[in-house]
Amino acid sequence: MYHEEPSTNPVALVTGASSGIGLAAARELAVRGVTVVCASRAEGAGAEVAERLAHETGGEVRFMPVDLSRPHDAAALAQAFEARFGRLDVLVNNAGAFVNRHVRTEDGFELTFALNHLGPFALTLPLLPLLGRSRGRVITVSSNAALGARLQLDDPHSERRYNGWGAYAWSKLCNQLFTLALARRVDADVVRAYAMHPGFVATAFGHVDGFMGTAVRGAQRLFGRTPERGADTIVWLATEPHPLAEHGAYVVDRRVRAPAPKARDEAAQERLWAISEAALEQVGVRLAEVPVAAPVRRPASV
Ligand SMILES: NC(=O)c1ccc[n+]([C@@H]2O[C@H](COP(=O)([O-])OP(=O)(O)OC[C@H]3O[C@@H](n4cnc5c(N)ncnc54)[C@H](OP(=O)(O)O)[C@@H]3O)[C@@H](O)[C@H]2O)c1
Repeated sequence: MYHEEPSTNPVALVTGASSGIGLAAARELAVRGVTVVCASRAEGAGAEVAERLAHETGGEVRFMPVDLSRPHDAAALAQAFEARFGRLDVLVNNAGAFVNRHVRTEDGFELTFALNHLGPFALTLPLLPLLGRSRGRVITVSSNAALGARLQLDDPHSERRYNGWGAYAWSKLCNQLFTLALARRVDADVVRAYAMHPGFVATAFGHVDGFMGTAVRGAQRLFGRTPERGADTIVWLATEPHPLAEHGAYVVDRRVRAPAPKARDEAAQERLWAISEAALEQVGVRLAEVPVAAPVRRPASV
């Protein structure tokens, strides 16, 4: 397997860095001397974008392909990443999408839930020991859309009825439920977990067919922030030596905000965790257990 010389720079893995907020975050991190590994689909623009970023910033920027809507692929990326880099300081779970009709992945999962939640879940858990070795941070890009979400624990794949916005809001609520459940499992002085909202950002997000896509493009032109502004809080959480945000915090514009009320329900957090583990097991992805009672601890030698 391809192995890189151990980096003396901090290393960040940014998913969905081929466009939008992820690209802006990757660029700024590379400018600041972070080795950035961009991960998105092989058939997308990721490889070309990473090469361009390396050229533009003079920094170390790499690309690793992954389809995050396939938990198996996400877990395989974690393994390949560890073998190749052996160091991880920041994981940015940014890749995500709005899907306007019910699409089933090859695994039989609803695409929005699979990409926006199960992918980050399957990627993050196997990377915790590596993150723990460098007091790492996990930053998951959620959204204020979670405020209007239904808690779909009895129908995570939106089988009963599908509404693109509803499925998206639910997946972003999952990002917050996941971050809070993760924060309970992992010591704050080993790995810190954050969820964040980037604001309403003018990116390729929501550029679907029909009226919805046209409306989103129009609204983005009128009200959208730049991707750089959207990425600012990610870069801040990733690089501040002593982030002000506490473990598990939901952060908007560098300020800690209350997460969606439904995200604060511990029983719901644990049910989502169990549902996610079961979904992964169903497709043959077995992750080491990360129980609440036995948090991942920093090895004594580090
Ligand atoms: N834009 C907003 O106003 C807004 C607001 C709140 C939250 N967010 C969140 O911000 C995050 C980034 O969105 P964005 O606005 O920057 O959108 P974007 O420009 O559409 O970027 C989405 C990124 O996700 C990647 N991606 C899509 N499907 C993937 C898959 N199956 N596997 C791996 N990567 C995949 C895309 O890369 P490829 O297509 O090259 O694979 C792309 O790099 C999302 O989680 C979104 O929910 C956005």
